[in-house]
Amino acid sequence: MFKLSKLSPSITDMIRLDHTHVMLSFHQYTADAKPRVKKALTETICTALEIHAALEEECFYPVMRELDSADSVIQKSVPEHNEMRQLIAALRADKTTGAEHDRVLLELMQKVIHHVADEETVLLPRAERLLDKDRLSELGAQMTRRRLQLAAPKAGTLVASSVIGFSGSTTALVLAAAGGLLAGRYLSSRTS
Ligand SMILES: [Fe+2]
Ligand SMILES: [Fe+2]
Repeated sequence: MFKLSKLSPSITDMIRLDHTHVMLSFHQYTADAKPRVKKALTETICTALEIHAALEEECFYPVMRELDSADSVIQKSVPEHNEMRQLIAALRADKTTGAEHDRVLLELMQKVIHHVADEETVLLPRAERLLDKDRLSELGAQMTRRRLQLAAPKAGTLVASSVIGFSGSTTALVLAAAGGLLAGRYLSSRTS
């Protein structure tokens, strides 16, 4: 029987798209940016990472663990997410946007880059070798459903912080909006 979830982008492509979005946000953050822009970008980055980490832990890592529980990359993934969560909490608690805020944000960026490199060069290719296309799409659909639940309460904040944070870069704003539009079209095609 034909299943709509087979039309979904694969979970691995969705994870790559999330990584691209968060790196784009990091690249907008500069030491000389206005405090309002820095705070908005920080909120965009922190919320995007929290949702992404929860989605991977619920929808992706358990499947990879079933394939090989002893794998070192999968074993260190959740502790690395927890290190990021500590830095996110520190950034949210810091009401200033000076040198210390920049330092913690750049430490978070460094950890994210290392973590993303392991996922994109080891875990995602392994998933694509070991799981067939239909399964990857099913998991992608599952991740989208969960993303809607996690993002819904934060939708207003996410839009507002994206508009302020990306206001200095037309290209980045267009890319961010295009990503949102694509997601919206996919979701409306699934629900109609
Ligand atoms: Fe991760
Ligand atoms: Fe990831």
